[in-house]
Amino acid sequence: MADHMKTSQPRIVLGITGSIAAYKAAELTRLWVKAGITVDVVMTEAACRFIAPLTLQALSGRPVWTAMWDGSQDGMQHIALSRGAQAIVVAPASADFLARTAQGRADEALSALCLARECPMFVAPAMNVQMWTHPATQRNVARLRADGVKVLGPDSGELACGEIGEGRMLSPEAIAAAVSAHLADDAAFGTLLAGRRVLLTAGPTFEAIDPVRGLTNRSSGKMGFALAQAAAQAGAEVTLIAGPVALPTPSGVTRVDVISAQDMADAVFAHIDRADIFIGVAAVADYAPAAPAAQKIKKETSDTLTLTLRPTVDILAELAKRDERAPKVFRVGFAAETQDIAALGEAKRRRKHLPLLIANRAQDAINADDNEVILLDDDGAHPLPRMDKTLLARRLVEEIARRFVPLSPCGRGARGEG
Ligand code: C5P
Repeated sequence: MADHMKTSQPRIVLGITGSIAAYKAAELTRLWVKAGITVDVVMTEAACRFIAPLTLQALSGRPVWTAMWDGSQDGMQHIALSRGAQAIVVAPASADFLARTAQGRADEALSALCLARECPMFVAPAMNVQMWTHPATQRNVARLRADGVKVLGPDSGELACGEIGEGRMLSPEAIAAAVSAHLADDAAFGTLLAGRRVLLTAGPTFEAIDPVRGLTNRSSGKMGFALAQAAAQAGAEVTLIAGPVALPTPSGVTRVDVISAQDMADAVFAHIDRADIFIGVAAVADYAPAAPAAQKIKKETSDTLTLTLRPTVDILAELAKRDERAPKVFRVGFAAETQDIAALGEAKRRRKHLPLLIANRAQDAINADDNEVILLDDDGAHPLPRMDKTLLARRLVEEIARRFVPLSPCGRGARGEG
């Protein structure tokens, strides 16, 4: 890392793009510098037409980056600048910048920096109301939100172009306050499960009928993967036992891939002794072919083919049985029902002796990007509003952390499970 980037103060990278609101970035810089935050400013070419880099340089007391290879000592400036920063905040963020970032472009310094970042990213859009409400911009903003970018504003009011409506950049004070609040939340979230070991199952299972066919379900694994990621972000050591899904492994998570319900059960039982919390998110097959054929089953002349199925191991129920006398793991179950969600979920929670069960509508939850759930515990039913699975996962981690009471050293009954 270049010497000028080494600082013990908190540091924010402020990106400025081409918009009349660029002048407000000067005030934002001043606010942060006054609050003891180091500000590294990166400007697009268009931004330099609205405000002089010299102004930002004077206010930040640091060099201002204006082009891809500017001042680069090692040709890796676009990566180095964001390393160790608390956040990248792009204010104002133009419609064009949002479009490029939503596509993952890296054809100028600021976009490349955003693509190569490890830190949280915020954008404060500023544009004409028609540009903001255009379906293309709204699509790009939805994409960015789904990619974890926090979108601050815009406000409504009189716009620089004279029109009135949504599109005005938030005030520098509002942006600074929102960034601080998010970073404080993230810092608090990051310690919720510190030192805890979380074991999860996710995705469907696949039960072989013969070497090429099998029984499975439509579970995407998204909820379980989002929970694994959130638990890791909350400081836990996370092991994720995943059925056959094509999802990337969340960073910081150890993944064990399995195929069948029996494989999943074996993997859970092999890892459970090291776990403090078990979350069964997987849609495990309840039945599997009793005797999978060794060779591909041939089409017969008869009209029907009969498969004999046998029940699989109920992993959660089995864990409850093992824990009956001395609870060792805080167990959380999921239940996807097509009707009577709360009542059926509660019956399942009792049957599987779970302190917490998360119930949802199967037709809403499976393969979707968002979900609406009801938490069921000894105190009753607690519905949560519909939200994106990434946000929901963070909320569920908070709920689990709040209910989780570490075991006493003798390892018995300290959690008050009924
Ligand atoms: O009984 P049902 O399959 O609806 O229960 C759902 C919950 O039980 C989920 O948490 C799921 O991961 C878990 N489960 C399990 N092993 C099974 C079946 C379900 O752990 N064989």
